[in-house]
Amino acid sequence: MEQINASIGFDKNLWKQDIQGSIAHAEMLAKQKIISEADKNSIHQGLREIEREIQSGQFEFSRALEDIHMNIEARLAERIGEAGKRLHTARSRNDQVATDFRLWIRQNIDELIPMINHLMLTLASRALEYAETAMPGFTHLQSAQPVTFGHHLLAYTEMLNRDRGRLIDARRRLNENPLGAAALAGTSFPIDRQLTSKLLGFDRPMANSLDAVSDRDFALEYLSALSIMSIHLSRMAEEIVIWCSSPFSFIQLSDAYTTGSSIMPQKRNPDAAELVRAKVGRISGALTGLLTVMKGLPLAYVKDMQEDKEQVFAATETIILCLAACSGMIADLKANQDNMAYWAGSGFSTATDLADWLVKELELPFRTAHHVTGKIVSYAETHNLALENVPLQKMQEIEPLINNDIYSVLGVQSSLASRTSEGGTAPKNVRKSAKIWIDKLKDI
Ligand code: ARG
Repeated sequence: MEQINASIGFDKNLWKQDIQGSIAHAEMLAKQKIISEADKNSIHQGLREIEREIQSGQFEFSRALEDIHMNIEARLAERIGEAGKRLHTARSRNDQVATDFRLWIRQNIDELIPMINHLMLTLASRALEYAETAMPGFTHLQSAQPVTFGHHLLAYTEMLNRDRGRLIDARRRLNENPLGAAALAGTSFPIDRQLTSKLLGFDRPMANSLDAVSDRDFALEYLSALSIMSIHLSRMAEEIVIWCSSPFSFIQLSDAYTTGSSIMPQKRNPDAAELVRAKVGRISGALTGLLTVMKGLPLAYVKDMQEDKEQVFAATETIILCLAACSGMIADLKANQDNMAYWAGSGFSTATDLADWLVKELELPFRTAHHVTGKIVSYAETHNLALENVPLQKMQEIEPLINNDIYSVLGVQSSLASRTSEGGTAPKNVRKSAKIWIDKLKDI
C-alpha cells in the first residue's frame, strides 16, 4: 500500500510551492484571527527553517508520510509543536496540492518564456545573416520554388511565437487560487480567499470549490502547449538532419552538436537533432497520459489525480533540453551557401516565374500560361537544359509572342527578389522581418 500510495518520490519537487502556500495560508489565518499572531510567527519561522533543511539536503523525506504536504507538516510539528498542528485549519491536501501545482506550472512557464525568446532571437539573427541566401523551397520534399534560408528560419520564429502565446494564454487561465476550497465544499471558518490570492500572486479565488480541487485542465493546457511546441522543434530537428546529410550538404553543424562513429571515421552524426526529433514522444505521451487519467473521473478529488505530476515534471525537463539543444544548433550551424544556391536553381524551380511572366507581359490567362510553361519545362527536361538555357527560338515555337525579356525572370536571384508580397521570401522582406524580431527580442 505504501508503495502504490506514496507520491513523495516525485512530489518533493513541489516543496518550494508547498512552503509558499503554507506561509500565505498561515498569514491569512492569523489576519482572520483563526490562529494567534504568535502561532503564525512560529509557523513562519519553522517553515523557513524547513526550507533551509531541504535546500541543504538535510531534510529526511519519508515515504511513510506519503507526500510532500505531510512530510513538511509533520516536520513543522516536530520543530514547533502545537502551533505546527494548527496550520492545517480550514485547509485540505486537496486544495493544497491544486495550489502548489498551479504555482509550480506558473513558475515554469515564466522560466520557459525566456528560453523560447532566446531561440526565437537566435533564429532571427541567423535569418538576417542568411537573408539573401538562396535555397530550394520544397513541397512534397520536391524542389518547388527558390526561397531564402533566412525566410525558412523565420518560419520557425513565427511558430515559436505562437507557442509562447499559448503558454502565456494558459498562464492567464491557470492563475486563479484554489486555496480555501478545502476538501471539496469550502469551510465554515471565516477565511479570506482574496488575501491568499493576493499573497500568492493569483488574480482571484476560484469561484467553485468542487471545480477548484478536481480539475487539472490547467496542466492539460500546459502539456498541450508543450506538445505543440515540441512538434515544431521536431520538425526543425528533422530538417536539420536532412540538411546536414551528405547528399544534401546544405548546412554543417558544429562539432559541439554532432558525434563521431565508433567504426566510420568520416561520420558527423546529428545526434542532438535526432533526439529533439524523438523527444516529442515523451511530451505528447505525457499529454496523452494525463488526458487518459482525467477522462471520466467523477468530481471532486480522487487519488487518480496524483498521477498528474510526473507527466508535467518530465515534459518540462524534456522541453527545456530540446529548447537548449535547438538554440545551440541554430547558433552554431554554417550554411553551405554555394551548394544551397545550386540546388535552389535545380528542378526547374523558376517555372512559376516563367508562367507569371506570360501572364504579366503577354496577358495570357494563368491556366494557359501554366500549360505553355509545362511544354517549355518538358523541352528543357528532355534536352537536359536549365530553363534559362532553353533557346528563345524553341520557346517561340511553343508560344510565338515570347521575347528576350523572359530571361530576366528565370534566374534564382530574380525569382527571390520578385517575391515581395507581404510574407513573401524576397531578401528585402526577410531583412525587414528579421530586424523587427531582433528589435522585439533583444532586450527581453
Ligand atoms: N498526494 C496527493 C496528490 O498529489 C495530495 C492530495 C491527497 N488528498 C487526499 N485526499 N488523499 O494528489
